[in-house]
Amino acid sequence: MCGIIGYVGPQDAQQVILDGLARMEYRGYDSAGVAVVADGRLAWAKKAGKLANLRSELEIAPIPKAHQGIGHTRWATHGAPVDVNAHPHVSNDAAVAIVHNGIIENFAELRAELEASGVTFTSETDSEVAAHLLSRELARTGELLPAICAVADLLSGAFTLVGITADKPGEVVAARRNSPLVVGVGQGENFLASDVLAFIAHTREVIELGQDQAVLITPTRITVTNFDGTPAETNTYHVDWDTSAAEKGGYDWFMRKEIFEQPKAVADTLLGRYNARRELVLDEMRGISPEDLRRINKIVIVACGTAYYAGMVAKYAVEHWTRVPCEVEVASEFRYRDPIIDPQTLCVTISQSGETADTLMAIRHAREQGAKVIAICNTNGSTIPRESDAVIYTHAGPEIGVASTKGFLTQVAACYLLGLYLAQVRGMKYSDEIFTITNELERVPGLVQELLDRAEEIYDLAHQLAGQKHFIFLGRHVGYPVALEGALKLKEIAYQHAEGFAAGELKHGPIAIIEPGMPVFIIVPPSGRDQLRDKVLSNIQEVQARGGRAIVLVEAGDQEAANRADQLIELPHVSTLLQPLVATVPLQLFACELAATLGHDVDQPRNLAKSVTVE
Ligand code: F6R
Repeated sequence: MCGIIGYVGPQDAQQVILDGLARMEYRGYDSAGVAVVADGRLAWAKKAGKLANLRSELEIAPIPKAHQGIGHTRWATHGAPVDVNAHPHVSNDAAVAIVHNGIIENFAELRAELEASGVTFTSETDSEVAAHLLSRELARTGELLPAICAVADLLSGAFTLVGITADKPGEVVAARRNSPLVVGVGQGENFLASDVLAFIAHTREVIELGQDQAVLITPTRITVTNFDGTPAETNTYHVDWDTSAAEKGGYDWFMRKEIFEQPKAVADTLLGRYNARRELVLDEMRGISPEDLRRINKIVIVACGTAYYAGMVAKYAVEHWTRVPCEVEVASEFRYRDPIIDPQTLCVTISQSGETADTLMAIRHAREQGAKVIAICNTNGSTIPRESDAVIYTHAGPEIGVASTKGFLTQVAACYLLGLYLAQVRGMKYSDEIFTITNELERVPGLVQELLDRAEEIYDLAHQLAGQKHFIFLGRHVGYPVALEGALKLKEIAYQHAEGFAAGELKHGPIAIIEPGMPVFIIVPPSGRDQLRDKVLSNIQEVQARGGRAIVLVEAGDQEAANRADQLIELPHVSTLLQPLVATVPLQLFACELAATLGHDVDQPRNLAKSVTVE
């Protein structure tokens, strides 16, 4: 949510910044802007709309070539997405420029105070106060690093600020609290950004900044301090993927590419999880001992959106395998209802980005109550794993499409690993039982590939249904979260009314909305759980009796279910608990193709941004 970048070094700063913003545009695309220092003067440009608008503006009114600068791509919170509200924001003497990600909660009082002292504001944003404050603190301290620390001390809320001043050529400064910032360590050049994607073309060496830390970069120096000015400890890591992972690689959309990357993403997530005795080992459990896991009497999963649906799937598996009660909760609701948490509660948090503010606040609350927190996360160095006791990384590679796809599948796979690990540690399953399940899990990448090889069938369906305005998704047991995820994908990128229901709930109200011809996707559980499956077969009939068009997702060979379908999507056979790993894939393909057919921007859907860093 908002992408920010800073650069200093020998390259053309504007070029580096615009390329970096292009890679971070998934974080927000309401407006974009750039500021540089050239020949001791600040120059800037900003424009509402996508980055392309800024590029056109820069062709009409170029800014000078420079070797230091900052840039921003915005997802609007305070102030409409218009030119004046775009970042960077500039001090009244046109010497200081900042970009900001987050929400400054006390901006109204700071603005009143600054206006009373004669400062003129030009935007409606909360961010602009930071430009004027940095200008004031710079005049007082004479140096950028203490000045930004002083500004940070005055702000409440969430922020990453990156700033430059005409008076300090060769320096870029930044500060962060509750909002992401990483430093790219180059050779004779350095970078700051919300996401490593912004500078991955230049360096894969990264320093992650901790909470309440500030950093000053020059071409050859990186100085990190705490807000009180004391030297800060930092963590450095090497990114193990390169620019090709951040490019479309021949696909029309990142989302489609990421759907097709799922066999590898799931396989990578499962890789290297056993020891020589064929026991499951989760190396990343560092801060949580087997003893801790044996003591817990409740598991609470907190997450948002698609990650929350992955958590819903996990609940079925975790309770079944461990017999420990497991709750799943939307992170944004969690801390406000005073949940019952204590040191015997294990909190599991799921987040692709590792930066979702609602989820972060939920785990902070859980830890304050004494719970241990395990993060399931895809982003190395992000805030949520840093603030958790342990982390299981999903190895999906960067997810750039705003709609999460490989994020979901790998989260589900990681949740299964965690569930099985808990069962192993707590003595609820023998190692051969665990091995049978992990063996089946390892077959999943191949099965997903089989589904992807038949993508054209799903695309045909999407073309046939492109005129429909309402879609229903039904599932029972683990099929229920799959139905919710199928509906969410369609809402997000195709902007169609879509709802997911527990199939058994249909008759308690939602069945009233079914009209003749309305497409209803129904996920049928595989054979083996016949009671469950038979109930869903009845649901197909309920839908058809009201004229609904039953699009049935069912394992190949289930002739009875196939005979009842108006349209059939065959799934490979897996056991019930693992079915989400295959059943979700056709629904992702369907949403992607429908959105593309309707002419929507699949990767950057309206009103959304990836990595939601505000509550
Ligand atoms: C949906 C989607 C969102 C995210 C949610 C949580 O396609 O992408 O619903 O799943 O915002 O994001 P993370 O997993 O980054 O915490």
